[in-house]
Amino acid sequence: MGLSGKVALITGSARGIGKAIALELAHHGANIVINDILPKSEIDKTLEEIKKNGNMTIGIKADITVFDEVDRMVKEIISKFEKIDILVNNAGITRDSLLIRMKEEDWDAVIKINLKGTFNCSKTVAKYMMRQKSTDKIVNISSVIGLVGNIGQVNYAASKAGIIGLTKSMAKELASRNINVNAIAPGFIDTAMTKKLPEKVRQDLQQHIPLKRLGTVEDIAKVVYFLVSDAANYITGQVINVDGGMVM
Ligand SMILES: NC(=O)c1ccc[n+]([C@@H]2O[C@H](COP(=O)([O-])OP(=O)(O)OC[C@H]3O[C@@H](n4cnc5c(N)ncnc54)[C@H](O)[C@@H]3O)[C@@H](O)[C@H]2O)c1
Repeated sequence: MGLSGKVALITGSARGIGKAIALELAHHGANIVINDILPKSEIDKTLEEIKKNGNMTIGIKADITVFDEVDRMVKEIISKFEKIDILVNNAGITRDSLLIRMKEEDWDAVIKINLKGTFNCSKTVAKYMMRQKSTDKIVNISSVIGLVGNIGQVNYAASKAGIIGLTKSMAKELASRNINVNAIAPGFIDTAMTKKLPEKVRQDLQQHIPLKRLGTVEDIAKVVYFLVSDAANYITGQVINVDGGMVM
């Protein structure tokens, strides 16, 4: 199996896209670390599903916005597995409203989780990856909204555009240490995040997607697998849109 013996940390992976990524990488043989801030019972449910693949899997409840919690999580992973080969920065939130109505706390929360959380995890994990001899992989989950903007999402668009700048800078800094850093920009994917949208908006959206459907969590997970596999060893600093052709 393509990822046999590898250790992968996926943030925000108790549900949604993160969970699908964890299942996909486990299916290809990786040992998985589930991270989330959801109650431990939710994390444990996801762990049980992954263990059916027979992989070593642990779950760590940690808030990625708090540097000390990230540090504790990464030390726990190293003490259990002695390395981290793959980091997928997936955890993210939306707090939508128009610019002139947006509350400061909603701006701060989105930037803190989506952008600072990605920085916290990347900085902490990269220190260990740099000491390893293998080709390691970091994949950041951005969004097409970070490329084209969206009404009601100034905070989210800024955080996801920030992730693209962070990805390219990290790719340049870490290339000499054989750490490849790429981003995926999903379009509209059918998860709890987009279920919040009114049905009419969801239907209108589909009309504007060339492939005429919302994406599935598996559509994203399969591209993450490609990027963390040996097939992508010569790809770094790229943003791959997985959006049914929304942005081209
Ligand atoms: N669903 C979409 O259409 C879509 C489109 C583009 C990008 N994305 C991005 O994909 C990622 C996953 O989104 P999703 O749709 O699966 O959302 P989701 O809400 O289903 O899952 C996000 C997970 O992140 C966790 N999380 C939130 N804050 C956290 C924190 N501080 N520390 C640790 N975990 C935390 C949540 O508890 C949740 O389990 C996000 O970064 C999102 O911005 C989603």
